Amino acid sequence: MKRSKTLSRRQLVRGTLAALPLLAVPPLVWGKKSGPSCLLTPSQGEGPFYPLRFTPHGMDLTRKQPGGPKAQGRQIVVRGTVTDARCRPLPGAEVEIWQADSQGRYNHPHDPRNLGLDSNFLYWGRVLTDAQGRYAFRTIAPAAYPASSSWMRPPHIHFKVRQKGAGTLVTQMYFPGNALNASDYLLGGIESSLRQRLIAKLAGGSRGAPTPDIPRYLFDISLT
Ligand SMILES: [Fe+2]
Repeated sequence: MKRSKTLSRRQLVRGTLAALPLLAVPPLVWGKKSGPSCLLTPSQGEGPFYPLRFTPHGMDLTRKQPGGPKAQGRQIVVRGTVTDARCRPLPGAEVEIWQADSQGRYNHPHDPRNLGLDSNFLYWGRVLTDAQGRYAFRTIAPAAYPASSSWMRPPHIHFKVRQKGAGTLVTQMYFPGNALNASDYLLGGIESSLRQRLIAKLAGGSRGAPTPDIPRYLFDISLT
């Protein structure tokens, strides 16, 4: 009886995967007694560039108004699912991102470099997850930037995710295959077995997607 119940739930997970081919699923561990559990997403520091006033911006950071001029740089889509520690999707979770632009510049007075801002780029955004716990942003691939004279931060996007009862997670998403990932002190500070949880996956098979020429990165987040 117990075995058939387990198979049934696994089949359910597979069915969900088949129905959502564009979404990655958080690493899943199957406990004999406790059911599935998701590996928690490691936290990372908020850093000095969290927006002073998180004025409402939606899921599209690439222009300031519909039909307006586009921000500089390569457009990308970042999407994923927010789940709890048992892999249950969290609907209504608040997902914030903030990031550097295509020149590695933050829209923040603590950024000491004088590079000038991209007047068409929205440097942060906030969305709520849908009924399946999914979120998505369209943004610009951030550039690397120097954190010190001897430390170049790899391209990354900052995340803050909140949901009542599940708490708040602050972390950073990195890009697969970037050579700077290997020498970054912050990413390197994460236990090696968990590091991959912070590196997005590049989705394949964009045929049929509404914007097939825009790279799509998958970044799933699991809260406590
Ligand atoms: Fe940063």
